[in-house]
Amino acid sequence: MSQGRTPLIAGNWKMNGGLDEVDSLAGDLARRMTALDGPPAFDMALCPPFPLLPMIAARIEESGLALGAQDCHGKEQGAHTGDVSAALLAQVGCSFVIVGHSERRTDHHETDTQVVEKARAAQAAGLCAIVCVGETEAERDAGRAAEVVVGQVAGSVPEGSNPDNLVIAYEPVWAIGTGKTATPEDAQEMHAAIRASLADRFGADVAAGVRILYGGSMKPGNAAELLALADVDGGLIGGAALKADDFWAIAEAVA
Ligand code: PGA
Repeated sequence: MSQGRTPLIAGNWKMNGGLDEVDSLAGDLARRMTALDGPPAFDMALCPPFPLLPMIAARIEESGLALGAQDCHGKEQGAHTGDVSAALLAQVGCSFVIVGHSERRTDHHETDTQVVEKARAAQAAGLCAIVCVGETEAERDAGRAAEVVVGQVAGSVPEGSNPDNLVIAYEPVWAIGTGKTATPEDAQEMHAAIRASLADRFGADVAAGVRILYGGSMKPGNAAELLALADVDGGLIGGAALKADDFWAIAEAVA
């Protein structure tokens, strides 16, 4: 990573974790953060399921850990049963929210149009939107990976985005939860393409400041190599975020 972008190590717990993890995982990481001698070289965020957010907010208070949710609705409030507003997430202590994760794009048929609304709602509520993009294996095999990903960035990132309210997570769908990771060359190439598309739209300064995370089977064994790439500014971590030792080891791999 470079240009003063503090690497962000974000844990996406997905539909995992329960009351036990408030202490065994969030509490454990909070203890590690507070035990550091100086300020960490990374930002760290935990994105647990909705019901755990207030409890984890209380548990990680004063630790320097940040809290994020895994989704929000695109509207401010109203008759949307089962959905959660960005404003409520901010109220319970979130500073981040993941939007447009490929599992939601698949399971809930979310489109770029919905994702950009969610990201806009998140930013309006004062949150930083972690906008997820990534190609499928078929799209990569067809040579369309960059076109698909840059298209998702164009469709899912709101006007007015800046380094404070936007993080992008590049997560090749074929690498999520599979143990397969993008090669460093492929990851760097895609991250650079994403940054170039941000520069075209928002200008070079904004593009240079926005953090672009890699996601997809990041683990202690491959983190250092990925995090060292010029345009990789952290990770969005699923499986390895569920074990404090692994998640912490990934953060420590920040050079
Ligand atoms: P994974 O998930 O680390 O388990 O591959 C990453 C993600 O989906 O955010």
